[in-house]
Amino acid sequence: MATVKDKLIQEVNPGAAMVARSKVTIVGVGQVGMACAISILQANIADDVTLIDVMEDKLKGEVMDLQHGSLFLKTTITAAKDYSDTANSKLCIITAGVRQKEGESRLNLVQRNVEVFKHIIPNLARYSPEAILLVVSNPVDILTYVAWKLSGFPSHRVLGSGTNLDSARFRFLIGEKLKINSTSVHGYIIGEHGDSSVPVWSGTNVAGVSLQSLNPNLDTGKDPEEWKKIHKQVVESAYEVIKLKGYTSWAIGLSVSSLAQSILKNLRIVHPVSYLIKGMHGIKEDVFLSLPCVLGSSGVCGVLKQPLKESETTCLKKSSETLWAVQKELKL
Ligand SMILES: NC(=O)c1ccc[n+]([C@@H]2O[C@H](COP(=O)([O-])OP(=O)(O)OC[C@H]3O[C@@H](n4cnc5c(N)ncnc54)[C@H](O)[C@@H]3O)[C@@H](O)[C@H]2O)c1
Repeated sequence: MATVKDKLIQEVNPGAAMVARSKVTIVGVGQVGMACAISILQANIADDVTLIDVMEDKLKGEVMDLQHGSLFLKTTITAAKDYSDTANSKLCIITAGVRQKEGESRLNLVQRNVEVFKHIIPNLARYSPEAILLVVSNPVDILTYVAWKLSGFPSHRVLGSGTNLDSARFRFLIGEKLKINSTSVHGYIIGEHGDSSVPVWSGTNVAGVSLQSLNPNLDTGKDPEEWKKIHKQVVESAYEVIKLKGYTSWAIGLSVSSLAQSILKNLRIVHPVSYLIKGMHGIKEDVFLSLPCVLGSSGVCGVLKQPLKESETTCLKKSSETLWAVQKELKL
């Protein structure tokens, strides 16, 4: 007997229209995964967002809640029963893992999250062999290296959210001090996402006017305006937010959505993200650290040859050695 659907719709080329062209999988529906999901949905940049988590009820509840907002969105939202439902993703965002406890360093989390990745990454790679992997879980630089190793993907298709968020915090705080919008402040934090990140004061500017040309002591202890403190605030800000609300979510979600947009729309925008930087700035190890990168539909399309001061290069090399010391001990 014909159903209401059969009576209402004459199907044309059934099946073909169901294939998503810009599918995003988000692994982990915790605070960060859901903030990424809502930011991507509201930016209207994907035609399918598929979510997956080991906590079945939480996954089901989160997806139902989002689906009930479908009227106000333009994206199909799916809860994956298993990894086969993530097939043909263009972009896989990994937010799963254990989060930092109050006062815990990102490096302490590492081996616990490596075990989680051993399950996730081979499954993503199996069902979406052409995908771009975007790692958000901490410690993000080391876990991006782990994702690269476990996936066997070429390095341009594996990146970490890195210092994209640190740089956003940096620009916000400078903007606050100058009473201007952070989009008008240009500046990058590079290196490790976290405690040993490097602010590139030498290139920080507003409308091309270098702040350091106005105050040569900007990055020293001899500055009465204490600009250097801004970087300290950036490093401490995640710890402060975690202390106040238990986790960080909104800013990382928005920053991941901006990375997803550059990739899915092939925008070739420059973002500071974690990438395999062996061979740059004298780095000899297989480490992922953030440098300004051009992002497009093939993933990382280029890395900026940013002129750095000797002290900045020294900091970068030190981070690289610290990360490598941890990485070489990992059981992959
Ligand atoms: N890179 C950044 O700038 C940044 C910023 C904030 C948080 N983080 C990191 O993001 C991660 C997630 O933070 P959160 O606050 O969302 O944590 P959360 O505890 O709220 O969520 C983690 C989720 O991962 C899921 N999970 C665990 N193992 C899994 C597996 N094998 N497969 C699928 N899902 C699995 C859990 O069930 C949970 O839902 C943490 O590592 C945190 O440190 C990174």
